[in-house]
Amino acid sequence: MSLPSQVRTDREVRVRAPGKVNLSLRVGAREADGYHPLATVFQAVSLYEEVVARPSTALSVTVSGQHSHLVPTGPENLALAAAQLLAARTGVDAGVHLHLHKAVPVAGGMAGGSADAAGALIACDALWRTGLAREELADLAARLGSDVPFSLAGHTAIGTGRGHLLTPAMSRGEYHWAFAVRDEGLSTARVFGVFDELISGATRLEPEADRALMQALRAGDAPALGRALHNDLQHAALELAPSLAESLAVAEDAGALGVLVSGSGPTVAALARSRQHALVVAAAWTAAGVADQVATAVGPVPGARVVHGARGG
Ligand code: C5P
Repeated sequence: MSLPSQVRTDREVRVRAPGKVNLSLRVGAREADGYHPLATVFQAVSLYEEVVARPSTALSVTVSGQHSHLVPTGPENLALAAAQLLAARTGVDAGVHLHLHKAVPVAGGMAGGSADAAGALIACDALWRTGLAREELADLAARLGSDVPFSLAGHTAIGTGRGHLLTPAMSRGEYHWAFAVRDEGLSTARVFGVFDELISGATRLEPEADRALMQALRAGDAPALGRALHNDLQHAALELAPSLAESLAVAEDAGALGVLVSGSGPTVAALARSRQHALVVAAAWTAAGVADQVATAVGPVPGARVVHGARGG
């Protein structure tokens, strides 16, 4: 679809995009394209990136919030890449200034960069009135990164392929989380590299989504979900950041229903019994000095969406 260049660009659009936890992350052996086949269950959680898009003659990005100095503002910025991809796909020749306000840990294994990209797609689509269908946006999202389609979709979903092929999953109830955040992030590519060394050529079957976990979600059974949490990348993340073991142990001692490294880490996610209990787990991390920052959140929540400046608004 190609659009005239005189699209209306007289407004500001504000979008919220959630971070995620992989409730289960099963990883197969690296394939010829360098990626690993995954079977993962994503849950979107209420730590949100805010993306504000304003009309501009050029493409630019600024960043504020937690660890914002670590986020690149050049072409490697995923939100900027998203705006560029959407403009190229739709023939829009307008620019945009994007402002990212970060609440999802940077390089933390919670898909903060992917949320920025998903937020930028939604924000620019609204600002430029490109009117792409959700499936077309999801197609662009998959080209930006493995986790970007889920940041668009939100809620709970099974991810296969590189994690980008999504099937919505049924989930009942609300789950309460505490997160132990580290100042020093981990590179996803590096964690997958260590994973390769640890499995050292062993033949692994195509990963499968976890039945017990899906059953727990359908039943709204938080203790069963806690028991079923699983992350194949956890050993690799611990190899690179051994002190994460302390964060895992402190959350267990504080009575977490389950605790694991989130995605490729280093954020540690603990499933709590209630909002209050999530605060107790977070306080235990702070008291033990095993987190640089702590956060609490609930899930599942919706994917990236306009919160101000919607079409016609
Ligand atoms: O897709 P994305 O750019 O987010 O992936 C970052 C890196 O993580 C990739 O370059 C690759 O090294 C690794 N990765 C992988 N298998 C996946 C997803 C990511 O090996 N399924």
